Amino acid sequence: MLNRKVTALALAAFAVIGVATAIAQDAFTPPATPEEAVEMRQGLMKEDGGILRVAGNLSGAEAVAAMTTLRDNYSHIPALFPEGSIVGSSKALPAIWENWDAFTAIAETGQAAAEAGLAAAEAGDAAGYAAALKTLMGTCGQCHQQFRS
Ligand code: HEC
Repeated sequence: MLNRKVTALALAAFAVIGVATAIAQDAFTPPATPEEAVEMRQGLMKEDGGILRVAGNLSGAEAVAAMTTLRDNYSHIPALFPEGSIVGSSKALPAIWENWDAFTAIAETGQAAAEAGLAAAEAGDAAGYAAALKTLMGTCGQCHQQFRS
């Protein structure tokens, strides 16, 4: 009886955490076609580039917003590269799917850096923010060098 109550409480707690997580993440619908994947990832990359051009000068709520978008965008990178989706103007290389773990590891590094930058921005930790930004910027070239023509 007591056990059942505890279980119910634990489940309720998980449900609350689940809702909180869902709110923290942006709404994202994976691409339905290779064409859509290319369009979405090219748009996402451009957005990231635009943010990184100004991110060094941001602080407070603006810095938090920038890092939140970067974190969410980086978390979507794997889903935007369905296998073999090299169509139209895509500059993606087949090496992506031959080295999938290395490719996603770079995206994960960027996502973790954005997460760290987000925490630093929230804490008003300028040095931590700058360090996270530097790591993030490193991932752009690191990935392009290997995986973009
Ligand atoms: C995990 C790999 C990866 C990371 C990290 C990454 N990119 Fe890319 N990027 C690519 C690939 C692959 C393409 C080519 C996509 C295509 O054309 O299908 C690309 C394309 C682009 C483009 C061209 C978009 C267009 O309109 O054709 C820009 C700009 C760009 N990236 C900027 C960035 C910036 C800035 C960062 C760092 C914040 C970054 N990327 C991080 C893999 C990555």
